[in-house]
Amino acid sequence: MNKELSTQINSLIESIPDLGDKQRSEITASVQVLLSEALLHKKVTWAAHMTPETGSAALLGNLIAAHHNGNLLSANLYPQLAEIEAQLISWLCQPFYKQHGHFTHGSSYGNLEALWHAREHNKSSSNIVYGSSATHYSVAKACRILGLEFRAITTDSVGKIETDALQTACKQNPPLAIVATVGTSSSGAIDSLERCANIADDLNCWLHIDAAWGGALAFLEGQTMLTGIERADSLCFDPHKALGLPKPCSVILYQQPLESFTDIEADYLSQTPKKTLAGSYGGELFLSLWFRLLCNKDGIISEVYSRLEQARLFANKLKDKTDWTIWHSPTGIVCFAPNNDKERLALENITTFSNAKINNQPVFRAVFASTTTKADALFTELEPYL
Ligand SMILES: Cc1ncc(COP(=O)(O)O)c(C=O)c1O
Repeated sequence: MNKELSTQINSLIESIPDLGDKQRSEITASVQVLLSEALLHKKVTWAAHMTPETGSAALLGNLIAAHHNGNLLSANLYPQLAEIEAQLISWLCQPFYKQHGHFTHGSSYGNLEALWHAREHNKSSSNIVYGSSATHYSVAKACRILGLEFRAITTDSVGKIETDALQTACKQNPPLAIVATVGTSSSGAIDSLERCANIADDLNCWLHIDAAWGGALAFLEGQTMLTGIERADSLCFDPHKALGLPKPCSVILYQQPLESFTDIEADYLSQTPKKTLAGSYGGELFLSLWFRLLCNKDGIISEVYSRLEQARLFANKLKDKTDWTIWHSPTGIVCFAPNNDKERLALENITTFSNAKINNQPVFRAVFASTTTKADALFTELEPYL
């Protein structure tokens, strides 16, 4: 733990009233244990999952959020907090070409809410939702909750939806909605958004884009891989995965203003949240982002470039030094699979990487979510097994 953080934590503990010595030392011990566990994300070999290392600016946001504790269900009481939320939503809408939105606790909620709106908006007789077999599991879960049927379309060799298969399925059984993914959880693949949007347009069905992980690419200069993103009816994105922020910080954006589908009223609120899933929420969903941007707006983008560069270096090194099959996605996930069982079994012993599947084939997966994760350090972990 750095010295300033340690001083701040100690003074916070000191400010808790009526604390006996025993309780104080228990609290201090518990803090130490948890902060040591968090060091995992600062390691140069941290590559197992999409959880980034977080910095002081974001920490400040979460501290202020806990202190402020305002509930934006009564936004009139908290004009400053409401204004910050509005400014951030407008900043986030731009790269994704959307008009409206709000913060949520994560893209599992985002996917559920988007499909709820798709179902209510589209009064078609279909209850089918198409996505690829690499679509995040929360989409299938959301379909179950909403009484919809998720149908998985096959993926190509890098994990992108097979759009010809999607089109054929859509012709046979038109859907209520199509879900395209920008940055699949396993391999980081980006579905062909243009093609998915064309199919959705032809059928006049809802297009939702799950950009929870890969949405960070929308902030980069000269990006062409996301062409078609502007045509989605809804899109979710997780700064808590892709922009180095602590959970929860997630956003769901829409093309059209949301309609109210329920007549449910709460007599104690001036405005019942009829269009969104969440109940109480406040700055905990976005003040980390606000303070991160206030401290260094360009830094947040340059960090995305730098972790993508480390992913590229790692993939290139694997290509140079091994005969393994390598999948290098544009969103900062590198997967690899040795071509023989002996090497594959040996790699099972390394916990640095996670296990995933691409097209049902087991692969090892390195996720470049933290700016601390370094290609050379990851490669050093693998060297004894080459
Ligand atoms: C592509 C994708 N969508 C949605 C989610 C769900 O996000 P959350 O865990 O924030 O609910 C994930 C989580 O890893 C993901 O990778």
